[in-house]
Amino acid sequence: MTKPAEMPMWMKVVVFYGRFAPSFTAVGYVARGLPLRPLHASFKGQTWLVTGATGGIGKGIALGAAQRGATVLAVGRQESTLATLRNEGGAGIVPLQFDLGLVAANLALADEVKRRGGKLEVLVNNIGMLDHTHRLNPEGFEGTYALNLLCHFALTETLTDAGVLDGGIIINMASGGLYNTALSLRRLEQKPERYSGVMAYAAHKRAQLALAERWTRPERRLVSYTMHPGWVATQGVSTALPDLERHLGRALRTPAQGGDTALWLAAKRPAPVPGALWFDRAPRAAHAYESTRKPEVEPDAIYAKLTADVAKVRSAAGSA
Ligand SMILES: NC(=O)c1ccc[n+]([C@@H]2O[C@H](COP(=O)([O-])OP(=O)(O)OC[C@H]3O[C@@H](n4cnc5c(N)ncnc54)[C@H](OP(=O)(O)O)[C@@H]3O)[C@@H](O)[C@H]2O)c1
Repeated sequence: MTKPAEMPMWMKVVVFYGRFAPSFTAVGYVARGLPLRPLHASFKGQTWLVTGATGGIGKGIALGAAQRGATVLAVGRQESTLATLRNEGGAGIVPLQFDLGLVAANLALADEVKRRGGKLEVLVNNIGMLDHTHRLNPEGFEGTYALNLLCHFALTETLTDAGVLDGGIIINMASGGLYNTALSLRRLEQKPERYSGVMAYAAHKRAQLALAERWTRPERRLVSYTMHPGWVATQGVSTALPDLERHLGRALRTPAQGGDTALWLAAKRPAPVPGALWFDRAPRAAHAYESTRKPEVEPDAIYAKLTADVAKVRSAAGSA
């Protein structure tokens, strides 16, 4: 049999779509009968924090939670898209304007949450992107490493340390993209000359899963899940994966379908399943290939890098 590395590109494309498209597109959502199982849940009295809430999957989740009675602290960068979200979602949407690609902004957001009462039932770490170009952010970190992982870490650790999420849940929006790598430190923040946006994205999402294990804290009645939304028609896909959009078009999921598992997890709060990637309301395997099963590093090494990078920002702010 031809090994994947020896296949011509057209064959790799066919194998890739043949393997994942039936499950990850709207076809999988329908085949699993989810349209016939509408979620009857009330989130009345709950406060949620949703990042990347002004577009795509995050917007689907924010609107779904607000429609079911939650107060949603909805974070976005732009006043105009936040205003549109507020108009669509009504009084349950509380718009908060922060650029969450910066650690300092995530620390400021955590302070804002504490100032507003300091209690969350649900945190959705939804924001994330794949960038094929290496860029440094204003704090000196590779941009996607900061947006996809470091900033989630800064926000979540600050909130959990302060007890804001005690008794609540954390939902981390990962991706089937994590199937591309084992847990890796070297791929988290790559140098420009060796940068692969796809592998960086995979490494960030794989690391998210490892962090989720750490954020499940029985002594605080806190459970952290990591999920995959499927392949969803969003601006993020249009920009980063135009071929996926071109090949699959109307078979891509809607943002509401992509966010369905997040709302379901919040409603059902299933018992945590170590190492699982939640997808279409069930825990699924987090490995599609044997080669990714053996981690390159222990999760502690990832944790140590993230802790040190947040400390750099804190110390720069202290000395400014
Ligand atoms: N779509 C998919 O098929 C798919 C598949 C697997 C996993 N995912 C994951 O699902 C999550 C959401 O993906 P998506 O496709 O819905 O993303 P998206 O279309 O790019 O939307 C992301 C949202 O985040 C906001 N945002 C981006 N950068 C920001 C920043 N620095 N500060 C504050 N807000 C910012 C955007 O607001 P602006 O309008 O300000 O840019 C937008 O509202 C990501 O973690 C992604 O990796 C998506």
